[in-house]
This record gives sequence, C-alpha cells and structure tokens, in this order.
Amino acid sequence: MKKSAAVLGMMGLVGFITACGGGESPIMAPPPVPAEYADKHMPAGWWTDQKIFEEGRELFEGKKDIDVNCASCHGMDGKPKKRGARDFRVAERMKLYSDSYMLWRVSEGVPKTKMKAWKSKLSEEDRWKVIAYIHKFSHGGNPAPHDDYAPSSPSSGGAGG
Ligand code: HEC
Repeated sequence: MKKSAAVLGMMGLVGFITACGGGESPIMAPPPVPAEYADKHMPAGWWTDQKIFEEGRELFEGKKDIDVNCASCHGMDGKPKKRGARDFRVAERMKLYSDSYMLWRVSEGVPKTKMKAWKSKLSEEDRWKVIAYIHKFSHGGNPAPHDDYAPSSPSSGGAGG
C-alpha cells in the first residue's frame, strides 16, 4: 500500500513543521563543527578563571572595543535584544553546545543572520574569553565549568568534544 504510506509521510511532515513553527526557536542539536575548529578547546581552567571571566565581560559589553559589542544583540543579561539571537540563559540549549561549536560560531558567524564573523576583531584567546563569559548566563551569573555539556544527538557528528 504505497499510497497510504505516502499519506502518512505527509502527515508526519505537517506535524513536524507545526512543531517547529511559533515564536521561540526550538532547542535542537547544533550542526557539526567543521574540522578546522573541532579540535580546538577552551584552555585549561579558563571556564572558572575570574580574570578571564572579567576580560570576557569587557569584550562582551563593548567596553574594550566599541566595535565588538555582543551585548547590543545578546543583551547585558543574556536575554536577546535582537530578534533571532539565541537566549543564552536557556541551559537546556547551552548544554548542547560544545566549546568548539561556540568558537566556530563566534569566529565565522552564522550565515544569513545578524551574527557576523568576529575572528578579524578578536584574537582566538579573546574569543575563548568571551565564550567563558557568556556561559555564565545559563549558570546563575557565575563562572562555571562546562561539565554539563551533553550533546543529545549522536547523529550530530562524532567530533563534538
Ligand atoms: C548584530 C547582532 C549580534 C551581535 C553584535 C552578536 N551576535 Fe551572536 N548571534 C546573533 C544572532 C541573530 C544569532 C543567531 C544566529 C542563528 O540564527 O543561529 C547569534 C548567535 C550566536 C551564537 C551561537 C548560538 C547558536 O545558537 O548557535 C554565539 C555563541 C554568539 N552569537 C555569540 C556572540 C558573541 C560572543 C558576540 C560578540 C563577539 C556576538 N555573538 C555578537 C546576533 C549577534
């Protein structure tokens, strides 16, 4: 019965689209990290280093370089100011992101969105600092190790880390 299978497939698709509609973007496993970034990781100890955290804050808030003002879109408190920017306070989402994934996104940006590539403005060290800082939004405002990292989907690529 090919026909009924096709109909079932259509219904499934409609259900899927409906579930993904609506305002807040759904929490999904992020795309696989390109090889260039997959092996890069937060320097040891930086997630919880108070000095790194403070430098990350200055970068994030545009205090160090006015051209780098993450907070103008992502919000001083991690609550997005610009439509489409992710809510960094949602731990359910942030725990799906590896350190490599975040470095990739901050370095290269997200195509077709307002998130641009920052690698020309921020050294790799500075990118790690700002990542260590934004992690606080899903951890009660405090520096915290990213030991809650838990990629949900095995299909999202093996190079997670
Ligand atoms: C002009 C607005 C804007 C600025 C400035 C900006 N972002 Fe973004 N950012 C966005 C948007 C919009 C997205 C969501 C892109 C998408 O749809 O996946 C995003 C996504 C991200 C992501 C990936 C989240 C995810 O769900 O994949 C990270 C990490 C991030 N931004 C960090 C930063 C950092 C760090 C800075 C400063 C160096 C910064 N952003 C500056 C708008 C901005």
